[in-house]
Amino acid sequence: MNILILGSGGREHALAWAVKQNPKCDRLIVAPGNAGIAMLAECADIDILDGATVVTFCEENTIDFVIVGPEAPLAAGVADACRAAGLLTFGPSVAAAKLEASKAFTKEICDACAAPTAAYARFTEAEPAKAYIRQQGAPIVVKADGLAAGKGVIVAMTEAEALAAIDDMFGGEFGAAGAEVVIEEFMAGEEASFFILTDGTNALPIGTAQDHKRVGDGDTGPNTGGMGAYSPAPVLTEALQQQAMDMIVLPTIREMARRGTPYQGVLYAGLMIENGRARLVEYNARFGDPEAQVLMMRLGAQALDLMLATAEGRLAEAQVNWADDHALTVVMAAKGYPGAYARGSVINGLDRMPEDSRHMVFHAGTTLRDGLVTANGGRVLNITARGATLEEAHHRAYAMIDLLDWPEGFCRSDIGWRALPE
Ligand code: AMP
Ligand code: GLY
Repeated sequence: MNILILGSGGREHALAWAVKQNPKCDRLIVAPGNAGIAMLAECADIDILDGATVVTFCEENTIDFVIVGPEAPLAAGVADACRAAGLLTFGPSVAAAKLEASKAFTKEICDACAAPTAAYARFTEAEPAKAYIRQQGAPIVVKADGLAAGKGVIVAMTEAEALAAIDDMFGGEFGAAGAEVVIEEFMAGEEASFFILTDGTNALPIGTAQDHKRVGDGDTGPNTGGMGAYSPAPVLTEALQQQAMDMIVLPTIREMARRGTPYQGVLYAGLMIENGRARLVEYNARFGDPEAQVLMMRLGAQALDLMLATAEGRLAEAQVNWADDHALTVVMAAKGYPGAYARGSVINGLDRMPEDSRHMVFHAGTTLRDGLVTANGGRVLNITARGATLEEAHHRAYAMIDLLDWPEGFCRSDIGWRALPE
């Protein structure tokens, strides 16, 4: 079959790598793609936020299956447009993707199905929001309701920080995303990510992961999109996964279906684990980035069969075949990230990297210039390895990084630390 993947990051490179290994895939196009993706698929420079453009492209290229990678096209209704045109599509509708696009909506769903999550209140004006913060005290969490590229959440350790966040949000720092604000109870504990495929009715857990949001070693410095990840996440035990399915995920899927807006695609549940209890931090309507890189490394070609079963409503009969293995990915970023960074530096040493079922370099922000791979983003490469243990995967990934010659880049040296032996 002919398959189109929408997106251009490390997540989409990992999806493309897995899909390409499946003999069902005849032709693979990624739009817009990047320099790494171009080594295994065709890339097409189209506007992936415009449903009509994507549908026309699919018709012209006899696409049989569309996989939507990032949240922006989902929130822009691209999956709806594709389905309306009769295209088999992996990814939720705008109405269902609200589980990521609106934090207030997610809270409403949690209330309706009694899913455990932080206590909260919603505000559209600064003064009552500030009064609530003064009454609750710190630590407290202030969130812009809408999509803010991962930047709309302030975990305030002091009341002053929380009050300043209110001024920023209602002052327009996050545009329309900050017109409504959700203020939440601070949850202590350890965070982990749980990935579930659902066709709207049936649900199939496909793995756990943990990422590293802070830029510096020892979880210091500013927040980023994620500096590395590993799978599985030992903190999410079988018992906790079952609890999260029973108390959070399945009730959410039933509530979405009951409202006439069934959720189809991958549901990414960010969980906070404390004292043997899982609570929902947030939902995302897509695979995580860089979590997809470690999940795809472990799933391989079956990822395509699972996404097809999701889109075709056949998840009841699907199952995941797990190897008892571990995967770890280290993000190489341009110096300065998540602040200002330069583009255009040349990345050498990629040809020395092994690329096989245990080693992969997924490209996140790269472009080809005069035949050379150059950095074209903040997060640039995801050096990914698999092993029988997490330690082995860790050693393999960092051994690959030693082969890289890119002085303008940096990475964290401690990815996986929570789960690695001392
Ligand atoms: P979100 O965009 O909702 O995932 O929030 C970004 C990050 O903020 C999360 O990954 C958590 O680390 C943190 N966070 C969000 N909500 C809470 C909360 N209620 N308590 C503690 N930390 C939180
Ligand atoms: N790595 C976090 C995310 O994809 O949202």
